Amino acid sequence: MTRGSIWCLRTASRSLHSSVRRFQEASEVGVNLDLGQATFTDLPETHQMLKDTCRQFAEAELWPVAQSIDKSGQYPGSTIKKMGEIGLMAIDQEEEYGGSGLDYLAYAVALTEISRGCASHGVIMSVNNSLYLDFATASQKEQFILPFTTGEKIGCFCLSEPGNGSDAGAASTTATDMGDHWVLNGTKAWITNSHDAEGFVVFATTDKKAKHKGISAFLVSKSAEGLSLGKKEDKLGIKASSTSNVIFEDCKIPKENMLGSPGMGFKIAMMTLDSGRIGIAAQGLGIAKHAMDTAVDYASKRNSFGAPIAKLQMIQSKLADMALRIEMSELMMYKAASLKDAGKPYTKEAAMAKLACSETATYVAHQAIQVLGGMGYVSDMPCERNYRDARITEIYEGTSEIQRLVIAGAVMKEYGY
Ligand code: CAA
Repeated sequence: MTRGSIWCLRTASRSLHSSVRRFQEASEVGVNLDLGQATFTDLPETHQMLKDTCRQFAEAELWPVAQSIDKSGQYPGSTIKKMGEIGLMAIDQEEEYGGSGLDYLAYAVALTEISRGCASHGVIMSVNNSLYLDFATASQKEQFILPFTTGEKIGCFCLSEPGNGSDAGAASTTATDMGDHWVLNGTKAWITNSHDAEGFVVFATTDKKAKHKGISAFLVSKSAEGLSLGKKEDKLGIKASSTSNVIFEDCKIPKENMLGSPGMGFKIAMMTLDSGRIGIAAQGLGIAKHAMDTAVDYASKRNSFGAPIAKLQMIQSKLADMALRIEMSELMMYKAASLKDAGKPYTKEAAMAKLACSETATYVAHQAIQVLGGMGYVSDMPCERNYRDARITEIYEGTSEIQRLVIAGAVMKEYGY
């Protein structure tokens, strides 16, 4: 670690903790710091400070490694630990369990900047914050959350199976009640963070006949006997986060490791995914912003026909459409996060934010390559990585097709059907 990056990390850490303090002080005296107060012109000051801090951290720590870990596929353990040290691995968890005690808008803003630096770091942060760290009792939190807030350990979320992805209610992994413990059998597929995770949230059926109402959720430690991992998938993008099957063969877990009550698993999964989709929106937005940064910089420096290409109307048209989509998507993400923070329903808005931001990521990365031409197609520049990384944001935590299904369902309900 260089002296510059140590300085940056310390500044980032001080700034984040002062953000947390100011946020808490304002909440205690009843000052509303949510987005409503800022009314879509600026972020609240605390969130702006957090955004600046994460931007500096991403520039100093993530940009320099993003290309090499994309090539090597190596888990970036040391930078994830630094993110844990400055409070980014458990942003909305209560402080008594090691979290930063901030809100979801803060999480979305921070994750956007981290993903702007490196999308692999973005998804590792996202899964740990919004898919893993939820719904536990106090004693479960001691064991399965406290050690997962510092970046030393990370968690993962096991819902999909080889035979079902979008149809999450069709889980065939079983959990059998053995009186004093549970036994899990089955295979979970496409599990993000699996090879580096120490804690697993697992969905399994405790009553097959009850279909989705028979699914329950469990906390499983990596050391549980009967848990093994499949081969690490060779992916198009987000290569430094691991993905594989997670296999349970007569895997014995303590009775007290059930999350919520029997049959609550599907609701837990859906509610977790609602918030997780705000995280993937932030990841997509960060990727789009990185591609935009590169395209604008290149267009201002590259000369063609005797002037920088930014002077050409064809390029200006592209930059305008890219900026437009980024702005629209960001506002949708802010709205979804603010609704969640205000305790209001946000399922439709989270699906809209995820759909908008992920399609924006793909669009902007595609157009950025077009602006850069040949330079966009080679790995010396980040656009081709942005393009590959963007693609998954339209697939995991519900494909774009599933988001449309969720949105259409909500719209029909609003119209009274
Ligand atoms: N919040 C709370 N409850 C919800 C809910 C929500 N958002 N959505 C549905 N429910 C409830 C319904 O109210 C209903 O409750 P009752 O049984 O009490 O009536 C129940 O769940 C069933 O609802 P549906 O009939 O709508 O369920 P469905 O079977 O038709 O499925 C679906 C709905 C939206 C398609 C859902 O299956 C889904 O979201 N699929 C996508 C799954 C997904 O996103 N997978 C991603 C894997 S994880 C991942 O990708 C992680 C990673 O790698 C990073």
